[in-house]
Formats: sequence, structure tokens, C-alpha cells
Amino acid sequence: MSFPIQRPRRLRRNDTIRRMVRETELSVKDFIYPMFVCPGTGVRQEIEAMPGQYRLSLDEMKRELESLVKLGVPSVMFFGLPESKDLLATGAYAEDGIVARALREAKAEFPDLYLVPDVCLCEYTSHGHCGVIHDGDVDNDETLKLIAKTALAYAEAGADMVAPSDMMDGRVAAIREALDGNGHSQVPIMAYSAKYASGFYGPFREAADSAPQFGDRRGYQMDPANAREALREVRLDLEEGADIVMVKPALSYLDVIRQVRDQVDVPVAAYNVSGEYSMVKAAAHNGWIDERRLTMEILTSIKRAGADLILTYHAPDAARWLKEEQG
Ligand code: PBG
Repeated sequence: MSFPIQRPRRLRRNDTIRRMVRETELSVKDFIYPMFVCPGTGVRQEIEAMPGQYRLSLDEMKRELESLVKLGVPSVMFFGLPESKDLLATGAYAEDGIVARALREAKAEFPDLYLVPDVCLCEYTSHGHCGVIHDGDVDNDETLKLIAKTALAYAEAGADMVAPSDMMDGRVAAIREALDGNGHSQVPIMAYSAKYASGFYGPFREAADSAPQFGDRRGYQMDPANAREALREVRLDLEEGADIVMVKPALSYLDVIRQVRDQVDVPVAAYNVSGEYSMVKAAAHNGWIDERRLTMEILTSIKRAGADLILTYHAPDAARWLKEEQG
């Protein structure tokens, strides 16, 4: 039985029925908002390549957190800009490191806001790689020790969950062991499981000042051409104890999000990364696209592809727009 009996347009006739049959509903509860914290006071420095995103000192961060809480955004991710960088990424795991301080201050003032520090070394190493360098290459097993140490420092500072983004083999197991051995068996791990070596991170590296000074990240992040390998990475992370798995970036990898969603029974997160954000901002600035419409379409697509959680710089705007839609 087909046309003229079947007429799909019948269910698109007005907004009421369209809403009634809508399959995917975006919610503010899906969002984790990534933020960049830096030393000093009164710092609110716009990131050139990411209009509307700022490097914030902790006092300014708290003002931002207050407005996020009002908007109903449940969770934030922290990236840190340390005072200084060195070969061993000391700023990542120091007790008074910038992210540890941000966590303590945020937890004290906003106890219900769910705090998820990104765990990586690239913002803290002088060379910008995500680990310790030996003979011109990132040494996997040496790096694991520092990654685990960083995750533990964040848990001690009040992190609700930790999110390793370094792509070293075995980091989930190493972090789980460090957390469990020190009284933090309740802190979950959201693993950046399928993290691709992507050109879409360009604006972030300006924001976090974390571009590698030599070479690139292809020796540890994934080849954009591979999807089966993403499923393997996800499986290994789950075997090591990951509680949530992530696909990153999101938009060019919607097929990967879908395949992961279909294969696992844990929540799946997707990271709508800096380059994806900046492209929307640039096109909107030029008047080429409708920012609100595009943003909501993009976020809905990521959710439709299978993401339960979305890390996105659009979170505050999207939260506002969702509120408006609900009237
Ligand atoms: C740290 C890290 C990066 C991003 C998240 N964690 C940068 C990178 O891997 O080079 C990218 C986030 C974004 O582009 O929004 N390793």
C-alpha cells in the first residue's frame, strides 16, 4: 500500500502534531559545557577563534557557573591554562594546579553542579604533546603514571567524574586503579574512547595553547578513516572499567556514534568540538546561516545519531533557546 493511501505529510501539518511525533528531543540535561580556566583575577579573555568563549580566572568562572546553574546546565568540563609548562606536565597534577583549584572552588559554591575535568597533559607540557617524550615519541607507559596521578589529584579536589582524553593505551585501567586505591571507587570515568586525530581541534589549541611543538598526534589519536577501530577502542575501555564512552569529534563521526550506541549498554557521549563550533560562529557572523537554527539542528542530529550526552560550547545558548521553546 503506497501513495495515494500513504501520505507522510499528514503528520507534518501543524506544529502540534509535529511535536507529538518527534523522535528526538534535545534537553538541557544532555549538556556538558567545556570551560577554560586560567590564573589571575578579573580575567575574562575572549578566545579569538571561538567567539563567545573565554579564558576565565576563578572569580569570573564562578560568575559563569552561577548563570549556567540558573539555565539548568547540569555539568561542566574544565580545561586549564597553567602558570607555566614543563616536560613532566607538573601543572596537571600539582595540588594547587589551576584545574584542582577550579574544582575546589566550584564544588564549594555549587555542590550540585557535576564537575568533569578533562584529564590530559597537553595543556601542561612545554612541547604540547599529551604525554612524556622519550626518543622523540610519546612514551605510553611512562605517561600512564602521570595521567593516573592527574586523575587522582582531580578526584581529591572534588571532581565528580574524570575524563581522560590522552588516548594512551591502558589509561582507563591505570586511572581506575589509582582512584580505587585511594578511596575514590565511586568516581566514574568518561573515556574519550574514539578520539580522532582531527583538524577540527584547531580553535581549541589556540584556546588552551596546546598545539604540539613538533610532529602531530597521529601516533596516539585515531585515523579519521577508521570506524571498526573505534569499536575496538570502546571495547578495550569498557574492559578496563570505563563508565561512559565518548566519540570525538561529533559531526563528521555521526556514523561512529551510531555504531557505538548500537554495540554498548553504557551511556555514550559525543564531543561537539571547537572547530565545529567556530564554523557555525563564523558563518553566522557573515550572515550566511541562521545560528540558532543551525545550532539546534546540529545538537539534535548528534542526539539522533545516538549520543546520550553532548559536550558542547553551544550549551548556554542552547539552554536559553530550549527555555524559550518551552515558553
Ligand atoms: C586534550 C584535548 C583536546 C580537546 C579536548 N581535549 C585537544 C587535542 O586533543 O588536541 C579538543 C576539544 C575541542 O577541539 O573542542 N587532549
